[in-house]
Amino acid sequence: MKAILLLGAPGAGKGTVAEWIKKNTSYEHIATGDMLREAIQAKRPLGLEAKAFMEKGALVPDSLIMQIVNERMAERGPDAQYLFDGFPRTMEQAKLLDQVLKEHGTSVSLVILLDVPRAVIIERLTGRRVCRKCGAVYHIKNIPPRVAGICDACKGNDLYQRPDDTEATIVKRLEVYEAQTASLIDYYKNKGVLKHLKGDVPREKIQEAVQALLKEKALC
Ligand code: AP5
Repeated sequence: MKAILLLGAPGAGKGTVAEWIKKNTSYEHIATGDMLREAIQAKRPLGLEAKAFMEKGALVPDSLIMQIVNERMAERGPDAQYLFDGFPRTMEQAKLLDQVLKEHGTSVSLVILLDVPRAVIIERLTGRRVCRKCGAVYHIKNIPPRVAGICDACKGNDLYQRPDDTEATIVKRLEVYEAQTASLIDYYKNKGVLKHLKGDVPREKIQEAVQALLKEKALC
């Protein structure tokens, strides 16, 4: 079992980088935000419980998050290589993940921290659009689909704005990141696994940097 983590504020580009890693490696993508949105869409009890927290930009309780992460890891088994995106987000989640990995004789191999200035984040999130059918992520100016309103990947014609991508909720999510998640930067720095990447550059540049990092660490 191997584990790579993508860390960074909302809108730092974690999901966009994860898409590239997923396409080019055999890592199993575990994006807790996507899993929660799927649970809401399917009207599963866990999704209904998580919805109110997500709508106001707060974190979903650790117990619910660990439930979905543990379920997914149990499905994929001990030989999988995991790419965690948006998880862990609290010290409690980080310690519980360490425990799970330790039970499999391993630990976090690499944490990629994407660093993006606040003004850029707000511009990115207010302009983000997501394909309702396949989940592909676009930006109305930075990364538009080839044909306006049509998903490049699946040709779906419903590119929607996430309900938590309003300016007021984005501000709240950034506050929550500073209060509850940013301390993980020092936690992983002290373990010697943190790599800092400048996220405010074109997507292709970040992909090149990530590729070089995975090669350097023999993680792909
Ligand atoms: P989640 O879905 O994880 O949202 P987030 O962390 O807020 O991150 P985002 O998805 O908003 O941004 P991203 O960094 O993936 O950026 P993206 O690549 O899309 O979580 C949502 C909610 O679920 C949370 O608020 C919480 O309630 C709950 N939750 C989830 N996990 C949890 C956990 N572990 N514990 C507790 N609660 C949890 O890019 C953003 C935009 O920028 C896009 O439009 C994209 O096209 C554009 N873009 C990306 N890269 C570039 C680039 N290089 N240049 C220009 N534009 C770019």
